[in-house]
Amino acid sequence: MTTLRELLIEELQDLFHAEKQLIKALPKMAKAATNEELKAGFTEHLAQTEGHVTRLEKAFAALGEPAKAKTCPAMKGLIEEGNEAISENECSPVLDAQLIGSAQRVEHYEIAAYGTARSFAESLGETEVAALLQETLDEEGETNKKLTALSETVNAEALAVSAVELDDDEKE
Ligand SMILES: [Fe+2]
Repeated sequence: MTTLRELLIEELQDLFHAEKQLIKALPKMAKAATNEELKAGFTEHLAQTEGHVTRLEKAFAALGEPAKAKTCPAMKGLIEEGNEAISENECSPVLDAQLIGSAQRVEHYEIAAYGTARSFAESLGETEVAALLQETLDEEGETNKKLTALSETVNAEALAVSAVELDDDEKE
């Protein structure tokens, strides 16, 4: 039978892989974004994500476990969807709106995973690990909120270019 401690380690390995995949994906998202604030937001989150990897390494160390990644198919799928959006569409506010959707899916996945791992660590009395996970959890939450706020502007921009396109279609 798997123990709660083993389950925590598995969660950390899954997150370790997820964060590392995200480090590769975020520069592509920043490059594809046309909205300057969104572009800057992706770049900023890249730096944060590097910090998340470091915190996970500290958590592994606190548990006396090697920092190991276990393939996270869920994050892989979420990133694939984002990459697909980038390769199938030209850069525009509409793609920006889609990228926010992809990024928020990623954030929600991470919020769920970090919340679960933090609770496991708390139950196990691993207070240092729980504190490390909580710090990252808070940053993921803030990022998600920033994306929601930014979507207001970006969605309005997407709507404006969509209206222009509709106009052009009518003239043809
Ligand atoms: Fe993260």
